[in-house]
Amino acid sequence: MKKEYHRIGVFDSGIGGLTVLKDLLDMIPGVDIAYLGDSARLPYGTKSPKTIVRYSLQCAGFLASKGIDMLVVACNTASAHAIDELKKEFDIPVVGVVEAGARAVVEAAGKRVGVIGTPSTIKSRAYDYAIKTLKSDVEIFSQACPLFVPLVEEGWFDNEITELVARRYLGGLIADEIDTLLLGCTHYPLLRGVITKVAGGGVRIIDSANSTARVVSEIIGDRYDRKRPQSVTYYLSDLSPHFIEIGEVILGRKMKYISDVDLCV
Ligand code: DGL
Repeated sequence: MKKEYHRIGVFDSGIGGLTVLKDLLDMIPGVDIAYLGDSARLPYGTKSPKTIVRYSLQCAGFLASKGIDMLVVACNTASAHAIDELKKEFDIPVVGVVEAGARAVVEAAGKRVGVIGTPSTIKSRAYDYAIKTLKSDVEIFSQACPLFVPLVEEGWFDNEITELVARRYLGGLIADEIDTLLLGCTHYPLLRGVITKVAGGGVRIIDSANSTARVVSEIIGDRYDRKRPQSVTYYLSDLSPHFIEIGEVILGRKMKYISDVDLCV
């Protein structure tokens, strides 16, 4: 008999992974989800690869202790640097956003592809490698957007300052005449409105968060009990009312079961 999935673990440095969670909740309604936001140590995107790997292993270890049967790395920065170590360390399926995002770019048949992400994701060139492995004749233009994560964490999804910042970051990519823009950070789908406006109608936007949820749902297939009531538990390494306030806006639902955790013990 094929294995059934009961509980999956999802982690990100903060609220960005909620964009993956939101899509997962719609796609796999009978599977419990444990979401970990390492909010005390956010941002990951400006940290060194060694630190990102250490934090990622701690996040995954915490979720593994909750009895998950699949791990979703809902953070591009963690996926870019730690996916191999996570796959080696944990004996359950591990799904990262980078592989899923790269696949979505190739499916969209982009030829001149802009990739935006945290400084650490862009520096890793993980997307260049993942996309070119699937399709070698794609031209890739990358841009780090370090101010996007704090803007999202602040809940400034769509205002004149966010638009100004987006114009500064995306200007070079627009001049490079990209046809596709990959949102290579799970925080960025929350800026989709501003990014679409600035990039212009001719640029196709690919969302690595949504692509990841689709890959997870494909792996799980029908191997879960649809009739089972689903529970979502949230773990935060820094529990602040602000996180919950913004989180509930993103999810469009109440965040009920929330605990704070110390990942450094
Ligand atoms: N949401 C994370 C990502 O996808 C990163 C945010 C951060 O810098 O911590 O890369």
